[in-house]
Amino acid sequence: MPDHIGQALYRKAKTRIPGGTQLLSKRPEMFLPENWPAYYSRAKGCQVWDLDGNAYYDMSYNGIAACILGAADPDVEEAVIAAVRAGSMSTLNPPEEVELADLLCELHPWADMVRYARCGGEAMAVAVRIARAHTGRDRVAFCGYHGWHDWYLAANLAEDHALDGHLIPGLAPAGVPRGLMGTALPFRYNQIEELAALVAKYGNEIGAVVMEPIRNLEPNPGFLEQVRQTCDRIGAVLVVDEVSVGWRLNTGGAHLVYGLQPDIAVFAKAISNGYPMAAIIGTRNVMQAAQSTFVSSTYWTERIGPAAALATIRKHRRENVPQHLHRIGQMVRDGWRVAAERAGLPITIGGLAPLSHFAIQHSEAQAAATLFTQLMLERGFLATKAFYTTFAHEDTIIEEYLQAAEEVFGVVAQALARGTVTSLLHGPIAHAGFTRLN
Ligand SMILES: Cc1ncc(COP(=O)(O)O)c(C=O)c1O
Repeated sequence: MPDHIGQALYRKAKTRIPGGTQLLSKRPEMFLPENWPAYYSRAKGCQVWDLDGNAYYDMSYNGIAACILGAADPDVEEAVIAAVRAGSMSTLNPPEEVELADLLCELHPWADMVRYARCGGEAMAVAVRIARAHTGRDRVAFCGYHGWHDWYLAANLAEDHALDGHLIPGLAPAGVPRGLMGTALPFRYNQIEELAALVAKYGNEIGAVVMEPIRNLEPNPGFLEQVRQTCDRIGAVLVVDEVSVGWRLNTGGAHLVYGLQPDIAVFAKAISNGYPMAAIIGTRNVMQAAQSTFVSSTYWTERIGPAAALATIRKHRRENVPQHLHRIGQMVRDGWRVAAERAGLPITIGGLAPLSHFAIQHSEAQAAATLFTQLMLERGFLATKAFYTTFAHEDTIIEEYLQAAEEVFGVVAQALARGTVTSLLHGPIAHAGFTRLN
């Protein structure tokens, strides 16, 4: 394979930037080591151009779940440009943050108050701080992935592999104070008995239960209700993380769809379609605890984030974006199933329609998935085992993608049967989970 400008730049980046990128999920090694385009010059809708001038359709993460309307959405762009022209930063506050607080509380009638941050993990740390301040308790029971902060990685201090099974296996807690050991207590989604066991052991020492309302699995009947009841019984704050699942199923948090009433809900990523913004919304009683601690940051007060969020949410509601996300996601899932059947490639399909993924059922699955990405890239698609839908994905693009996917599934199935997968790869097998890069 000829070397690409993007790969050359990435090799340089690794000498200047520890780990090469700022986000694990953007590491080229997670997709196609040594051959992923790595950098983009331009992104528009669901198209992206690399540094070599190649154009691709993004049939993967679309801004790692941020660009729900598609990249550089014209309505959001217009609001952002207006915010830039009006001055994005000042000694005074931008009025958009009050307007956005009203809109978020209108969409979530159980919530009364709102704080802001700019990133998902940071907003989750704010939520946990507020919950701890409100209850005066240190321990947090959680399930799922919630970012990089100390409160969360502390789970791996207790037992090195406690975070395995919570999205990213192998996260190392070096640098997290050992004094936090035992403060972050994992349980698995739908395993109410695991939460019950934590409550039996720590009871009223648990100040918060933190979880996504839903992600990959539908909640078992009664699971969410039991979580809510548990929190009420022990006086813990229920924090739902809507950073990735929010805005996928409805205009607002997925917890609304499942009738779950939290005390705090946290939004980021898709709330502002590619501009940094995060919101922590909650009941007055709990949110007031932000006053009894110190939660404050300069760039949480700039104008672009709330302006982008207002434009994104309004368009989301106006255009019934969730309906499109669901339909496109379903089309891809059906297409994967049919293509895999025709190609004789055993796969399973999981996730919610707008956040779908498939897994190849084979002992060489990771190599086979890498080959899938390599062959799809050659056909003009950024494609992995997961597909996050956007409003910019039109039927014709999906049809083109599925045609290519069927062809590629056939090649992968044949290579698996012949034992030639790794010999067809132009580089190493993609990393799964967290692997240290030297
Ligand atoms: C559920 C969930 N919470 C928190 C985060 C962290 O958000 P961010 O990467 O914006 O810090 C993510 C990111 O993938 C997420 O999926």
